[in-house]
Amino acid sequence: MNFGVGALAARLSARLSARMAEVETVLAGEVRLDDLQVDPVLAHLAEAGGKRLRPLLVLLCSELGPDADAEGVCDAAVAVELTHLASLYHDDVMDDAPMRRGVLSAQEKFSNSMAILAGDVLFARASAVVSRLGPKAVLWHAETFGRLCRGQLHETLGRASGQTQRDYYIGVLADKTGSLIAASARYGVFCAGGPDGLGEQVAQWAERVGVAFQLADDVLDIRSDGEDSGKTPGTDLREGVDTMPVILLREAEAAGRIDAEGAEILRILGSGELGSDEVLSDVVARLRAHSCLGETAAMAREWVAEAETYLAGLPEGEVKDALLAFGRATVDRAS
Ligand code: IPE
Ligand code: IPE
Ligand code: MG
Ligand code: MG
Repeated sequence: MNFGVGALAARLSARLSARMAEVETVLAGEVRLDDLQVDPVLAHLAEAGGKRLRPLLVLLCSELGPDADAEGVCDAAVAVELTHLASLYHDDVMDDAPMRRGVLSAQEKFSNSMAILAGDVLFARASAVVSRLGPKAVLWHAETFGRLCRGQLHETLGRASGQTQRDYYIGVLADKTGSLIAASARYGVFCAGGPDGLGEQVAQWAERVGVAFQLADDVLDIRSDGEDSGKTPGTDLREGVDTMPVILLREAEAAGRIDAEGAEILRILGSGELGSDEVLSDVVARLRAHSCLGETAAMAREWVAEAETYLAGLPEGEVKDALLAFGRATVDRAS
């Protein structure tokens, strides 16, 4: 399965496709203010595409509740994509990323200030949509947004003393990525009238799937040629962000068991020469060939397996199967 709805059971697939079309219509309206000056920057990334996996997860989890057709389900799906979009605008400024969703990133096309402010408008629009879901949802949204930003802050600040680099990094991933994916699952159940306990269960599953998803993103940042991912390979390396493959090399170095190729990769990363396109593509190629990439992919699969334990109590059927397929697709993807 990809993150489309094609490979699911036919009935579920048809329902989700129809509901996704509704989400797209509402989303298209939310990224416009009928302001000719502002709308091009606000609509830029939403129009460029993306996998829409967070709204899809809201829709899928709503199928666990008694009223999957409730109006709030579509609103929640729109709100999580708006929140995600806003975080991407800000993230690309932070990471100085040239490309996103196969197009120029917002700050590259417009400017840093415009990208930051457009992100803020999208966060505000998300809050307005969530307000239609009631105070409980507003609180969840605030908590989620807070965790997401805290994760980005910790990534920027670096590890605190007393933490291993791996634990620190997993904490960052859970906050910056797991939190919104978990919220998407929780919203789906909640908006369809499902019990809070069930919402909590799928949120626990989704948070771990989110960590796996971000570990897979680390692999893709190195493995992809940029065509499939729509992003520029090696962006994290250039910015000096140690993602899991590099963390594994540093652990090996600290334990005195690093191989010659791993040591060479760390030397290049520390050389201060990654501004050169040749040096960057050389280190990306070296990482692609190193076992630390496969180890990170294996770690992502372990997170998915651990996540699945939280679905154990769910009734067997097409919705549970679809959730399992969704989780596995997060690590088995090319974009
Ligand atoms: C990108 O998220 C940011 C991460 C959390 C890795 P997605 O990979 O879901 O991006 P889009 O929405 O498909 O562009
Ligand atoms: C994505 O993080 C931003 C958030 C999760 C808020 P990254 O910087 O790791 O992801 P990409 O590779 O740019 O999508
Ligand atoms: Mg980034
Ligand atoms: Mg980032």
